Amino acid sequence: MIATRLHPDKQTAAQAIAREIADLIEIRSKSGKSTVLGLATGSTPLELYAELIRLHREAGVSFRSVITFNLDEYEGLGPTHPQSYRFFMEENLFRHLDIPAANIHIPDGLANDPAKNCADYEAAIRDAGGIDLQILGIGRTGHIGFNEPPSAADSRTRRVHLDEVTRRDNSVFFGDLDQVPHGALTMGVATILEARRIELIAFGEAKAEIVRRAMKEAPSPSCPATWLQQHPGCTFHLDTAAAKAL
Ligand code: F6R
Repeated sequence: MIATRLHPDKQTAAQAIAREIADLIEIRSKSGKSTVLGLATGSTPLELYAELIRLHREAGVSFRSVITFNLDEYEGLGPTHPQSYRFFMEENLFRHLDIPAANIHIPDGLANDPAKNCADYEAAIRDAGGIDLQILGIGRTGHIGFNEPPSAADSRTRRVHLDEVTRRDNSVFFGDLDQVPHGALTMGVATILEARRIELIAFGEAKAEIVRRAMKEAPSPSCPATWLQQHPGCTFHLDTAAAKAL
């Protein structure tokens, strides 16, 4: 079952989730353990990342023991491309923290052998001990990561074709639809479901209908976010606009 948590605004949601992450890092590092975070890009987690940076600067939270795995990357975009997710993460989070560069993992959009890159990614997650806490946004197609419909519950990290709705939604960042890649590498649904905790964030009225479907429709490949209903520790963090159709 999916738990819901209603927040008055983005800032309050960001503070609650950032606190949870900081507490998890503190508890685990006290017993010498690293913390493995699964991270998302897009507009949704920006306030959360700003809050994590604030906690690092003002409250001394250290990310030295943190290992990260991002959900996805556009095919064909390298780390210096301003719209690549690698670039996004460096700008909006990593370069402001003390996380070691070797602990950061993002699928390689320029991989010569994408299938091998995806298999290596799965192995790296396993070797790190699995994901302790996964941050998710949700796309209007029902995608989590870039698992567009149809995506099976047992799908793994792989190369995918982006839905035209997603390309159009994301064209605001590129300025031009033609510039939006058609493909991506994404963690699979099964990869995401193996995370020990999942915190999905959705804000605004444009997400209300897909949030309703994700929570109320029977789990199926046609709305990949419905698979989250089968996770024992998944919370949807919503503002009132995104919760409107529930
Ligand atoms: C991003 C990702 C996507 C986004 C989703 C919502 O790494 O995997 O699933 O979370 O497309 O995007 P925004 O936050 O821009 O509405």
